[in-house]
Amino acid sequence: MSIPNEVYQHGHHASVVTNHAKRTAEVEAAFFLPYLKPGMHLLDVGCGPGSITTGLALRVAPAQTIGIDPSEDVIEMARLRAKAQLTNNVTFETGNIYEHRFTPESFDAVFAHQVLQHLSRPIDALRQFRSLLKPGGVVGARDVDWGSTTFYPENRGMRHFLALYDQLARLNGGEANAGRFLPHWFHEAGFFEIRVTTSTGVIYRSGRDTRMGRHVCQPHIAIQYCCQISGVRYFESRRSGYYCGWLAHLGSPSGRVFLFLSHGSGRMEELAIGSFCLR
Ligand SMILES: C[S@@+](CC[C@H](N)C(=O)[O-])C[C@H]1O[C@@H](n2cnc3c(N)ncnc32)[C@H](O)[C@@H]1O
Repeated sequence: MSIPNEVYQHGHHASVVTNHAKRTAEVEAAFFLPYLKPGMHLLDVGCGPGSITTGLALRVAPAQTIGIDPSEDVIEMARLRAKAQLTNNVTFETGNIYEHRFTPESFDAVFAHQVLQHLSRPIDALRQFRSLLKPGGVVGARDVDWGSTTFYPENRGMRHFLALYDQLARLNGGEANAGRFLPHWFHEAGFFEIRVTTSTGVIYRSGRDTRMGRHVCQPHIAIQYCCQISGVRYFESRRSGYYCGWLAHLGSPSGRVFLFLSHGSGRMEELAIGSFCLR
């Protein structure tokens, strides 16, 4: 399968990767864990810094887990993490899901967290996952749905940011609302039993807590998006509206902000429609 000319729009800036490295299998892959058993050979596609991968590896030990990602830098981070945690049933390789690098039918489980949204050919990627599965295997994927984001307070800058994010995702060949596409993508890729659940990430802060602004506004991401679209000057104006508006609100003694980000997850094998829960 040829590798499309894609741009991974979050990039691998240290602040992005540090954030990803806080993720855990228990939280991010909660929907998938009931399907894992010791002895299952697992592939984590687009594993990033590998914090979820090592958690998954513990679940399927003593079988081997492999994490792949096109970025050599994050793969190196993932290797160091696994070494530090003494997780010895996981290996990390630089690789792209579109490559034919593994033997067909060689995995019991394939997982991809927040990856399909960035691909221009998510259905081809899922077909590839399917070809790698042994009979009876299971695939788990979870992706954000930015279009379902809701937030308080109303903020024009935030709306600009969401519109901009959507625009850039399309330019880069991705899909900002990937969560809602997952059942369709799984179906098109030939999965015949699909289970869908949703979850909502809630970020809530009050008072003078500026971590909220730093975390949600992720200016490094905004920089990259806007630079890619039309240069730094454009970014500056967008960023000011988005980031500063929220920080100013937080700075007031009664300031409270929240943001709900919805995620969709799909996995092969059963058919059910999940619940939408705000945690
Ligand atoms: C949002 S990050 C998620 C990382 C990790 N799964 C997590 O949730 O912490 C998306 C990852 O997908 C990787 N990626 C992008 N395109 C890919 C492709 N074609 N094949 C495999 N991985 C890819 C990126 O390099 C990036 O590390």
